[in-house]
Amino acid sequence: MEDLEGRKELLKISGLKAGKVLDVGMGKCGCMSLFLARRGFKVTGIDISSWAVHKSRKEASRYKLKGSLEIRRANAEKLPFPDNSFDAVFAYHSLHHIKNVGEAIKEMFRVCKKGGLVVISDLHSKGRKEYEHEPDRDFMRKVGTYLKRQGTFVQKARTKINLMFIYRKDS
Ligand SMILES: C[S@@+](CC[C@H](N)C(=O)[O-])C[C@H]1O[C@@H](n2cnc3c(N)ncnc32)[C@H](O)[C@@H]1O
Repeated sequence: MEDLEGRKELLKISGLKAGKVLDVGMGKCGCMSLFLARRGFKVTGIDISSWAVHKSRKEASRYKLKGSLEIRRANAEKLPFPDNSFDAVFAYHSLHHIKNVGEAIKEMFRVCKKGGLVVISDLHSKGRKEYEHEPDRDFMRKVGTYLKRQGTFVQKARTKINLMFIYRKDS
């Protein structure tokens, strides 16, 4: 799995061991959704692309996940879930693909339960270079600002390619 070490680090710093979680922008590999479902979490993965939904369902069928992973097509900027639905909401390498990242972060907090966590990992400048993405020096600072508006800081980490943020939803 791509960036397995990063995923392990993110889960470790989140302190999460179980629960009902949402993975926003799961991608065609469904990597973070599968990573979490295989570790006992009850996962819903969403992506705006029908192709990504089709491919990630196919990928998931290779594992015996016993109903612990549901995959749906949905827009991160308008999540089709009631308020306070998930113990934690993840976005791994997906925020930089979303048009209105501020709206997506707002939605992530809305569907997260009170006291739950919003768990984000995305590429910092060096990571963007490694993944051959256009530079955007301001992107992670913008993400940090949106997160601060919505919740309380819990933890932060930096890996070779990622900046990771964990925030708690207080109210
Ligand atoms: C790089 S992939 C995600 C990688 C994956 N999360 C992982 O764990 O490696 C980015 C995904 O974000 C999805 N995406 C972009 N805009 C979106 C939106 N508004 N709502 C949901 N998904 C979106 C894209 O379709 C794409 O599949």
